[in-house]
Amino acid sequence: MGLAPTFRTDGDTQAAALTAARDPLEIVTERILEWPVEVRAARVTPVLSPDDIHSRVAAHDLSQPHDLGTLVAEVVDLLERGGLHSAHPRYFGLFVPGVRRAGVIADALAALYNPQIAAWWHAPAANEIERHTLAYLSRRIGFMSSDVTAMFTTGGSEANLTGVLLALASTFPSYQRDGLVGLTGRPVLYASDQAHDSLVKIARTTGIGERAIRRVQSDARQRLDVDDLRRQIARDRAGGKVPFCVIGTAGTTATGAIDPLPVIADLCRAEGLWFHVDAAWGGLALLSDQLRPHVAGIERANSVTWDAHKTLPIPMGAGMFFCRAHPLVESFFSVDTGYVPKALAGRGDPYQHSIQWSRRFIGLKVFLTLAELGSEGIAAMIDHQAAMARLLRERLVESGWRVMNDTPLPLVCFTRDSLSRDATADLPRRVAAEGVAWISAIRLPGGECWLRACITNHQTDPSDIDALVSGLDHAARGFLIGP
Ligand SMILES: Cc1ncc(COP(=O)(O)O)c(C=O)c1O
Repeated sequence: MGLAPTFRTDGDTQAAALTAARDPLEIVTERILEWPVEVRAARVTPVLSPDDIHSRVAAHDLSQPHDLGTLVAEVVDLLERGGLHSAHPRYFGLFVPGVRRAGVIADALAALYNPQIAAWWHAPAANEIERHTLAYLSRRIGFMSSDVTAMFTTGGSEANLTGVLLALASTFPSYQRDGLVGLTGRPVLYASDQAHDSLVKIARTTGIGERAIRRVQSDARQRLDVDDLRRQIARDRAGGKVPFCVIGTAGTTATGAIDPLPVIADLCRAEGLWFHVDAAWGGLALLSDQLRPHVAGIERANSVTWDAHKTLPIPMGAGMFFCRAHPLVESFFSVDTGYVPKALAGRGDPYQHSIQWSRRFIGLKVFLTLAELGSEGIAAMIDHQAAMARLLRERLVESGWRVMNDTPLPLVCFTRDSLSRDATADLPRRVAAEGVAWISAIRLPGGECWLRACITNHQTDPSDIDALVSGLDHAARGFLIGP
């Protein structure tokens, strides 16, 4: 790549002199143009050892000024050789899609102009771009009513937290003023044993405590078992507890399962419970006509989490929260400030309806990406990911692996009969050691271990699928216990 690191402890002074002369903007522009192409040929996993990275970073004396071009060259080298590349087409990992140029440009513009999104009047253009984008995505969920409110968040955790806070405020009108102390019974909420563990932090943060979480068992397809949910609600009511919320997941983190949203919606309506859908990743189905039917029922939720940064090729963080109860949202988050000029009529200020106050222009990367590709371009990208997942399933089966999940979303779980549980758990490390691909292993509630490959990158193509399967075959042969 032609950028010599300049803070090496080996004192590479000649390289330092060369890179010091470079304009940092020139370096960045070059990397924006070249890295998306070069990343395919790079190792997915880090080249530098943790000790190397530590000593190179620690070598920077922050009490002294340094040349910016030199620093930028060093950071570029550290990032390119000292990290796992989630933008790599053979990163079959957590929900981190690759990054397209529109998202990078958007983040650069957001940083350059740094509009203060907290108040509409402070950043009218930026706020209108966000409102327009969120209104479009609300309609994709199927939220059509005039009381919909939507916001960008730091990520799915904040969006889930917002949902639980509003569920509490809706069920317990005294919660807003008196907190938990004023509640008449112990609040409990329900989510499957596959739901994301941000829930645990949320229970601690809101003060309801971890013991307020009821983990509903999942069925053989890792979907929330509604009979168990019904039983647990009845048992809690009989025991004097106060059920207040059910969280359904559309696209679980481990296996991509989609809970039976319409049935949960019926139950929540009958029981008077807040229905929150965590579609942090599965929200990608909302952008594809092919996949949309699989998340039917999401439009009946009271609130929805959907992460743009998990479903579109944009930089983190861009979470989103949608809710069909604008008056509640306004009442819960609004504050009377003497030091902020009043909102303009009809133009709500974001800090008055969300947890965040000052915040960056998150929505620009979503707007630019959607607008550049259009709905057909986005749908084609997501359908391609789903097609690559189907191809991976086929190739795995042909090669003697057993596919364990059946989600329509692009996430494949698999095992090999000849591999022990420990060998399966160790396989991702072996695959990563070759640097060819990155996958993970998951533990199921019953203790089983499965391998997990998510087609999170829209540039993953059949050659990447073949490379993964042959990498897996090679790693499995390393255990010398099967073909
Ligand atoms: C289903 C689900 N919900 C919520 C989250 C949390 O999202 P974030 O990491 O953006 O806070 C994740 C993260 O992977 C997730 O998979």
